[in-house]
Amino acid sequence: MTIESTTSINTQPLLAVFVSAEDLDSTLSNGSFHPELGAWLKATKFKAKEGEIKLFPNVAVTDVGAITTVAIVGLGKNKNERLAAGKVGFVAKENGYTGITFYNATSSETTVLHTLLGNYRYDTYKTKKNDSLETILLNGEFSDESIDRAISIAAGRNFARDLVNAPAADLYPESLAEEAQDLAGDNISVEVWGEEKLLEENMNGIIAVGQGSVNPSRFIHLHYKPEGEARKKIVLVGKGVTFDAGGLSLKPSGGMQTMRCDMGGSAVVMGVFQALKGLQPDVEVHGLIGAAENMCSANAYKLGDILTMKNGKTVEIHNTDAEGRLVLADCLVYGDNLDADYIVDFATLTGACVVALGEHYSAIFSNEDDLVAQIKTSAAATSERVWQLPLVDIYKSQLKAQWADMKNVGGRAGGSITASLFLSEFVENTKWAHIDIAGPAFLSKTFEHYASGGTGVMVETAVNWIES
Ligand code: BES
Ligand code: MN
Ligand code: ZN
Repeated sequence: MTIESTTSINTQPLLAVFVSAEDLDSTLSNGSFHPELGAWLKATKFKAKEGEIKLFPNVAVTDVGAITTVAIVGLGKNKNERLAAGKVGFVAKENGYTGITFYNATSSETTVLHTLLGNYRYDTYKTKKNDSLETILLNGEFSDESIDRAISIAAGRNFARDLVNAPAADLYPESLAEEAQDLAGDNISVEVWGEEKLLEENMNGIIAVGQGSVNPSRFIHLHYKPEGEARKKIVLVGKGVTFDAGGLSLKPSGGMQTMRCDMGGSAVVMGVFQALKGLQPDVEVHGLIGAAENMCSANAYKLGDILTMKNGKTVEIHNTDAEGRLVLADCLVYGDNLDADYIVDFATLTGACVVALGEHYSAIFSNEDDLVAQIKTSAAATSERVWQLPLVDIYKSQLKAQWADMKNVGGRAGGSITASLFLSEFVENTKWAHIDIAGPAFLSKTFEHYASGGTGVMVETAVNWIES
C-alpha cells in the first residue's frame, strides 16, 4: 500500500474533505472544488457533526478538472479527525474505493491510523470481497515518521482483530503459538512451552482448562528487548482461551456463539508486539499468553477438583466456566518473578463486566493508583474507553473454600471484582493492573468506524502507555 503526502488533491477515486461548521463555507468556496458543491451539501442538511459523511459521486474537481467522488466529512466541535478518517476508511471499503486523498487533515498519524482501522473487514471467508485500499494521499506536508507510526499501530490493532475473528477451528493453542512465533525478529524472541514443560513448571491452571480438548494447551512467551538501554521493564499478560464452551459447566448455545473471542486478551498482547516491530521503543516488554481451549469432554477438569497452582496456592473448582482466571494465574505468577516494573493483564474475563459497563467500556482494576492514572492517560490519548472498578478486600470472603485455599468463583454479586481479587492472589511483588475487555473486545454490530467482530481494543492504549 502507498501512503504519502501530496500536493495535488484529486488523483484518487475518493477525495475526502474534512470540515467543521465554521469553515464549511470558506473551504467549499476556495476555488478547489466544484462551485455547486456547497449548495448540494446544504440540500442534504449536513451539519458537520463529528463523523457525519456525505458522498457526491462523479464530481469534477475544479483544481485539475478530473472526475472523482467527493466525501464531505464533519469534524464536529471537538475537531475529531479520528472519527472522520475512520468513517472515510469505512465507507471506502463499503464501496470498494481503492484510493483516497485527504484534504484538510491536520494529524497524519490519526488520519492514516483510523482510515486503516475503518477500512478493516474480516473477509477471509467471503467468496466475494470488496476491493482493497491501495493508496492514501494526504494533501499537505507531513513527516514520514508520523505515517510510519500510524502504519505500525494499525498493523498491530488489525492483526489483533484477525486473531479474534478467526474461527476456533483455525485458531487453537498450537496455531496461536505459531502466529506468535511468526512475530520473532526485529528484537523480538518467542518461546513456546508444550504440555510436558507446563507440567514441569506447575502451570496447572493452563493444563486443567485445556485438558478436555483434543487441542493441547500452550504457554507463549514473547520478549522484546530494545537495541540500547531499556528505560523500563514491563510484562503484558493475555488470556488466550481460543474457544470457551464453558467446560462441564457448559454454556448455552447463544452464550457460546462468539466465544472464539475469548483469546481477545492474547490478541492485545500479540497486536502490541506486532506494533513494537515498527516502533522500537526503549522499553523492555515481555508478553505472556496462556493458551487453552475450554471444552466439555470425558477428559475435562471437573467440579470439586482441586488445582495446585504455580505459586503453591490451591483452588477448588466450583464452575469450569470460570476458566480465564486459572489460565491467567499461571502467567501472572511467572510474570511476577521477572522483576518487572509493571504487569498488566488483558482478558475477556467476565460477563459481569459487560453487565456493569456495557459493550463499549473496559474495566481496570489495580493494586497501584499511579498505574491506573498512567493507563487512563493513555486511554484518553487514544480515545479508548476505560473505567476503574474497585479492587477491594471486603469481597474476598466470597472466594472462601471448604477444601482448598480459595474457590474459582465468588458468586453473582460483584462477579468482575471477585474475579480480579482471585487474580490478585497470584501477584505479590509487582505493580499490577488487570483490564477486563469482555465488552469491547468483540462487537455484535458495527460501532463508530469499527466493523462488527473483533476490535483489537486496548492495543492502542497499551502501545501509548509503553511509549510514555
Ligand atoms: N469468557 C467468559 C466471559 C465473557 C462473557 C467474555 C461474555 C466475553 C463475553 C468467561 O470465561 C466466563 O465464562 N465467565 C463466567 C464466570 C462465572 C462462571 C463466574 C461468566 O461471566 O458468566
Ligand atoms: Mn468461561
Ligand atoms: Zn472465558
